[in-house]
Amino acid sequence: MQAGPCILRAVRPSDFKNLSALCADIKVRDIERYTSEWFGRTSNIKVVARPRSVHEVSDVLKYCNSSGIGVTVFGGNTGLVGGTMAERSEVAISTEFMNRFLEIDVSSGIATVETGLILQNLQERLAIHHLTTPYDLGARGSCTIGGNLATNAGGINFIRHGPLRAHVVGIEAVLANGDVLDLMSKSRKDNCGIDLKQIFIGSEGTLGIITKARIHCPSLHQYRSVALISLKGDFTSTVLETLKKAKETIGESLSAFEFIDGEGAELVGPLPSGMDPKYSGFAVLVEASGSASVSDKIENFLEQLPDSVEGVVGSDLESMSKLWHYRELLPVKMASLGHNLKYDISLPQRELYKLVEGIRLRYANRPDVLKIVGYGHVGDGNLHLNVALDPQFERNPSLESDMSHSVYSYVSECGGSISAEHGIGRDKLEQLFFSKPTVVLEYTRALKKMLDPNGILNPGRTIL
Ligand code: MLT
Ligand code: ZN
Repeated sequence: MQAGPCILRAVRPSDFKNLSALCADIKVRDIERYTSEWFGRTSNIKVVARPRSVHEVSDVLKYCNSSGIGVTVFGGNTGLVGGTMAERSEVAISTEFMNRFLEIDVSSGIATVETGLILQNLQERLAIHHLTTPYDLGARGSCTIGGNLATNAGGINFIRHGPLRAHVVGIEAVLANGDVLDLMSKSRKDNCGIDLKQIFIGSEGTLGIITKARIHCPSLHQYRSVALISLKGDFTSTVLETLKKAKETIGESLSAFEFIDGEGAELVGPLPSGMDPKYSGFAVLVEASGSASVSDKIENFLEQLPDSVEGVVGSDLESMSKLWHYRELLPVKMASLGHNLKYDISLPQRELYKLVEGIRLRYANRPDVLKIVGYGHVGDGNLHLNVALDPQFERNPSLESDMSHSVYSYVSECGGSISAEHGIGRDKLEQLFFSKPTVVLEYTRALKKMLDPNGILNPGRTIL
């Protein structure tokens, strides 16, 4: 069975006029922001609809569905797997103007919002009530709640709060035919049979457009402390041992445990306090947060580490954000070198860094490979393996498919996932079978066929 587009047609000039009658804000000029990704690719969006209500979303979808026009669902465009990359001529529906706070119920900690809201704006509003979002991302200043839900965003506090989907109390979603599904329960505890909202979370806009959400938000901890340490030696005896110590000593206050390998640390620059990144092996960032002081926990943790370990602690806002900046800068620095082959995988922790070593052994000496780094959310078993290609060379499809095959075969053998947090989009579609059995892919396709029979939503993405 095929889930992909079968009857889609290109956008025509008459569609502009027809769409303008359904949605007040239709753009056909100055749409570069919607047709390009931050790392350079361009897509084939012809019209951008910017609805201000669920009715407008529904009407635009109804029109596209009955006309057989493909639709790209557009949030903050911060994704990393080509989810906004339309191959054929399509209409983009951007939720950016559906960005209102609808309610913050301070006693239950439940926030109700429209999904075009930017994550940082929600965090700032929640902070007034001593609440925060149950996840956080480097892209917080531009990613939207809708995009976060559509990709079931992971991020830096996963170790503490688990997946975003676990905190979603309700959503409103619009189907391809324009039907609006009200799944906006007010109760977090709701066992009325099948939990339909979960199929939209992580579906990357292929099953419907999420227009409203109700999210359970934890308390914003008043006390926070961050340590950045430099470890020498192999991954297991340094990073994994340190993770074990952090869990034992910081316990439930552990809110992030991130690592960058020596190659990555060298690229970011000297570690604060002058620790030498090149020979350190690994830089590890540990964050603790709680409703009572956590500095003693961080101190206690550092005391348990061997004397040779160097570290620096930040306890005020400025020094903590400096340490976080060090971590968040790495993917940006890597992107500035040239095109990156980005692998976002989860693996059993013991197998995680072996992959980086194996890929380095096999490819690092090639002239067209500039840098291979491993970093990520090690506390969650999530490795980001990034390979920067030298822009002086033409892209080499056989190198890329060979490397992709090596990475994903290893992931599959170890029982990991080919996409830990970035999603599938366009870029990981052909590799889905490394993580999902054929019969699972078939039932996913059948679900898509039922909810979007004409295949208009994000065609060619996410569902194989
Ligand atoms: C990160 O953890 O820094 C993000 O997932 C972004 C990235 O890998 O580019
Ligand atoms: Zn990440």
